[in-house]
Amino acid sequence: MPRSRKSPDPRFWKMNRSIAFDVRLAPFDVRQSQVHVSELARLGVLEEEDALRLGDALGEVGAELASGSFEFEPGDEDIHMAIERRLGEICGPDLAGRLHTGRSRNDQVATDLAMFTAEGAVKTIDQLTEVQSEILRLARIHADDPVPGYTHLQRAQPVYLGHHLMAYFWMFARDRTRFAAARKAARSLPLGSGAMAGVNWDLDRDRLAAELGFETVSPNSVDGVSNRDFALDFLAAAAICATHLSRFGSEIVLWSSTEFGFVRLDEAFTSGSSIMPQKQNPDSAELLRAKSARVGADFQGLLGVLHALPLTYSKDMQEDKEPLFDAVDTIESSLSMLTGMLEGIEFDVDRMALASGDEMLAATEVADLLVRKGMPFREAHSVVGDLVRLCLDSDRTLSALSSEEVSGISDLLDGDYFEVLERGSWLDSKRTAGGTSRASLEAQFELAEAELR
Ligand code: ARG
Repeated sequence: MPRSRKSPDPRFWKMNRSIAFDVRLAPFDVRQSQVHVSELARLGVLEEEDALRLGDALGEVGAELASGSFEFEPGDEDIHMAIERRLGEICGPDLAGRLHTGRSRNDQVATDLAMFTAEGAVKTIDQLTEVQSEILRLARIHADDPVPGYTHLQRAQPVYLGHHLMAYFWMFARDRTRFAAARKAARSLPLGSGAMAGVNWDLDRDRLAAELGFETVSPNSVDGVSNRDFALDFLAAAAICATHLSRFGSEIVLWSSTEFGFVRLDEAFTSGSSIMPQKQNPDSAELLRAKSARVGADFQGLLGVLHALPLTYSKDMQEDKEPLFDAVDTIESSLSMLTGMLEGIEFDVDRMALASGDEMLAATEVADLLVRKGMPFREAHSVVGDLVRLCLDSDRTLSALSSEEVSGISDLLDGDYFEVLERGSWLDSKRTAGGTSRASLEAQFELAEAELR
């Protein structure tokens, strides 16, 4: 006698039902079921004719879900149960009930989620590539325009704007590597793990994997149903990527302020103020900056769900979906907005040149000149400190000092002191690989082209 069941308390049901969000897994669930049906037919567990009917019915349900005509019922707990219920209506509960042979919702949901994650990673990688191409385009345009480089948000040394922009190119290159790793992690098939011990049918898991676009099959059924590392990998990649986006957004906010005045966003990516007509607020950049918080929280959220969770499946794991979906959506809209922002961004190169002509930025150059003449760097650093203090006290620039004053501070300093202070030489002397000189920047562009190919 099956134990008769009380129907679920509505207060429990409200929390237990995941249909509101896992409906997103529908296309993967239908596809998975179609392949599962074909495998059951191959094994002779399903008659050929039944398999065809089930396959057709699944196609019908998939179409209803895609068009929005699928009608959910209050009793549909999740997307898997909803599809099975609807299949029953189309081809009879007897036949629909056979679909669940050799499969549990535990390996089923893990498989859906892995398919979703892999697809999300591929889309993200494509979007990152688009952003990188925009950055490279801008960097090439501004390969000769100097901008102050900052440390502690204090002017440090000038670099070419192209060089500064390329820093973001490489950050996104590493993001792509991380998303590619998440995709790979999602390419091991859970299906066939059953509830957690494997199944009593001789499913050809390699065939299932190939049909569903997986590279391998999970080697252990216990791990197969409890593994969500691929989702963690995606979330970790997303959290880091969102952090990069927030740094980019933050610099655009700063640079578009009147105080900096280095950059103007296309008006279509800003908002005006209702009472201050002169204002052009960089809302898009501010949102890029802020969104990293929620993506980081999404990662933290899933870590929290899985933390200390005994093997294998527990209902806790239903909570894996919303953080993952949220991160996928947030990264998707952030990257697409950033591409648009970069398409119309304008740099005020004159203002940047003016700011990077600040001679104090050449202090290190003078120190290196002394080093070339045999002085230890630490001593040179303090000599230049004296020069800078003299300038500040008398409100002059380094090149406005007289040769007597200069040689008075160090007799190693003569005419070449003034040569070193000529602008441009500070940038193109940074010839190390990865430095800002035009020659190094050209080499960097080559590397970047190769990376995009
Ligand atoms: N909706 C469930 C989830 O997302 C599906 C798996 C249910 N499995 C179970 N043994 N109750 O996790």
